[in-house]
Amino acid sequence: MLVGPDRRILLANTAARDLFQAPMQGLSVASFLRQPDSLSALDKGFAAAQAGSAAPHPAEARMFLASGGREATLRVQVAALAQPVGGAVLLVTLRDVSQQEDAEQQRRDFVANVSHELRSPLTALSGFIETLKGPARSDPEAQAQFLDIMEREAQRMSRLVGDLLSLSRVEALERVRPRDRVSLVEIVEATLAALRPKIAEHRVRIIIKDDGELPAIPGDKDQLIQVFHNLIENAVKYGGAGERVEITFERLDSLPGMIGPVQRVTVRDFGDGIDAIHLPRLTERFYRVDGHRSRALGGTGLGLAIVKHIVNRHRGRFVIHSVRGEGSSFTVKLPTG
Ligand SMILES: Nc1ncnc2c1ncn2[C@@H]1O[C@H](COP(=O)(O)OP(=O)(O)OP(=O)(O)O)[C@@H](O)[C@H]1O
Ligand SMILES: [Mg+2]
Repeated sequence: MLVGPDRRILLANTAARDLFQAPMQGLSVASFLRQPDSLSALDKGFAAAQAGSAAPHPAEARMFLASGGREATLRVQVAALAQPVGGAVLLVTLRDVSQQEDAEQQRRDFVANVSHELRSPLTALSGFIETLKGPARSDPEAQAQFLDIMEREAQRMSRLVGDLLSLSRVEALERVRPRDRVSLVEIVEATLAALRPKIAEHRVRIIIKDDGELPAIPGDKDQLIQVFHNLIENAVKYGGAGERVEITFERLDSLPGMIGPVQRVTVRDFGDGIDAIHLPRLTERFYRVDGHRSRALGGTGLGLAIVKHIVNRHRGRFVIHSVRGEGSSFTVKLPTG
């Protein structure tokens, strides 16, 4: 917007009027840029204009805006225009930097989370190394016990690094459409074969339901194996108390929000279920309902984040339903063409 010497708005473009959802022309600029930082940027702009020096850099401020049910962070820039007859005119530019700042915040959180997740196994390892070099030097029984723990901690670190790498590979490919054609039934069968020991350990019965032939669909085999590996492993690990896990395959002609026919695979368990408050955050990186239990079972908390990215890459949908005390179902819907 352009602001005249009496601090009234001479001109505001459509974007500015959309932002404030108000007519602006002729009104005082201070009623829109109300925060101290932006007001002082205005003062600096006027001072520069009056001094007749077109300042080499515009004055800047950050401003928070809450309007129309949304919040935004704006970068305000105030530049003095060459002094026309009749007083200074300022050019005020507002840029919505909310998304950029959110992304930066997410990156910072991510680094903090990764460091935190790596630190606990590392602390355990260094502690046991100290003990093995000192007090347990000549105690073979303790040594064997500590080495077992160290092995578990090292495995946890390598799982974490493995999951982080696969997350970043999936993200890098997110805009590349998968080219191969795959059979979801075969993918789930391969996954079940790999998970057989874990399924036996938790004494869970797997029940497969399908309604006839399912044609191959476009997909990345390795990635879809990761999807079903995590979903079935979760169902067995966290929902295993229900003693059975159902995997249902369906073919649908259409689904709201998706183009063309769809194949739908649901992994359902009959365990404890998940409280509704956790559901929206479940696919966030490192989010766990019961962090202690997940870690004890060897989880990194990245599984569902990876699932979500892979399903996105396949232009599919991923939906979680759960009722406390009745179990959970995780549904993947993939387009067939
Ligand atoms: N079927 C389920 N029943 C109950 N809780 C579940 C189920 N599936 C996932 N959860 C909860 O969601 C959390 C996140 O799952 P996710 O697969 O992302 O991580 P994880 O299993 O802890 O670790 P990872 O998959 O990397 O081994 C789990 O820690 C668990 O608390
Ligand atoms: Mg998991």
